[in-house]
Amino acid sequence: MSSSLSKNFNNFLAVDQVSFEVQKGEVLGFLGPNGAGKSTTMKMLTCFIPPSSGTAEICGFSILENPLEVRNQIGYLPESAPSYDEMLVGEFLSFVAEIRGFSGKELKRRVSIVVDMTSLREVENQMIETLSKGFRQRTSLAQALIHDPPVLILDEPTDGLDPNQKHEVRTLIKNMSEDRTILISTHILEEVDAVCTRAMIISEGRVVGYGTPDELMSQSLYRNSVTVSVNAEDHIPLMNDFNKLDFVYSVEHLPGETSGTGYYAFVPTK
Ligand SMILES: Nc1ncnc2c1ncn2[C@@H]1O[C@H](COP(=O)(O)OP(=O)(O)OP(=O)(O)O)[C@@H](O)[C@H]1O
Ligand SMILES: [Mg+2]
Repeated sequence: MSSSLSKNFNNFLAVDQVSFEVQKGEVLGFLGPNGAGKSTTMKMLTCFIPPSSGTAEICGFSILENPLEVRNQIGYLPESAPSYDEMLVGEFLSFVAEIRGFSGKELKRRVSIVVDMTSLREVENQMIETLSKGFRQRTSLAQALIHDPPVLILDEPTDGLDPNQKHEVRTLIKNMSEDRTILISTHILEEVDAVCTRAMIISEGRVVGYGTPDELMSQSLYRNSVTVSVNAEDHIPLMNDFNKLDFVYSVEHLPGETSGTGYYAFVPTK
């Protein structure tokens, strides 16, 4: 899968020449703050919105010329959970399987596999409207997996899940990655470290970093730094003392200070 994509919304450039390549067996993470352009890039890759310029190829199919084939290759977990509120979970998954071209026994088998994969058995006969956020998210993940696609594009797959479920979904993603190409978006560096083989840092629509999780960590100024919290009346002499230490490269005041307390990162010399 490869791309070089831009997207304008009127005069606003939301995605600015984002290019990358990702192979089978890889999990590529899109890491970036709110509004960075992660979802917009994913919407272009899944043919939900057209790029303003550039294109992408998925399993040899162009998003501009072969959108239907592209959609067949992809399982997509969009940012917002399914809105088929009046359907039962099992009904919804059968419906998606039908749209994907399955019927009869094979349809039932597919639904059953994804229900087990995403631990949805206990809510199979519950209406989507009445599901908790985590179960909705898992229902949405299940529909993305129903046709066993070679490419998965998952927009914040662990958003809203409890810690156990986060862990389970990360393990599921890792297990599925062997014979698939997976793209996930996240705000969480820890998630990149846990599941991604490589990550792309996106900021204001541009790619500002690209590499393995280790490579990205080693570029961080705060790598191996130590954060301490001190009382306000103590902090100036302490800061001076710490600055004098040979192994301290710099002492930085971190944002988020509350009155009476300062947080300082002690960044080691390289
Ligand atoms: N349909 C649209 N019309 C106008 N602006 C849009 C539209 N869709 C997205 N944008 C803008 O494009 C930018 C990128 O949005 P996008 O949803 O891709 O960010 P994101 O990285 O997914 O953020 P988040 O982490 O919050 O999900 C934002 O500034 C957003 O407001
Ligand atoms: Mg998003």
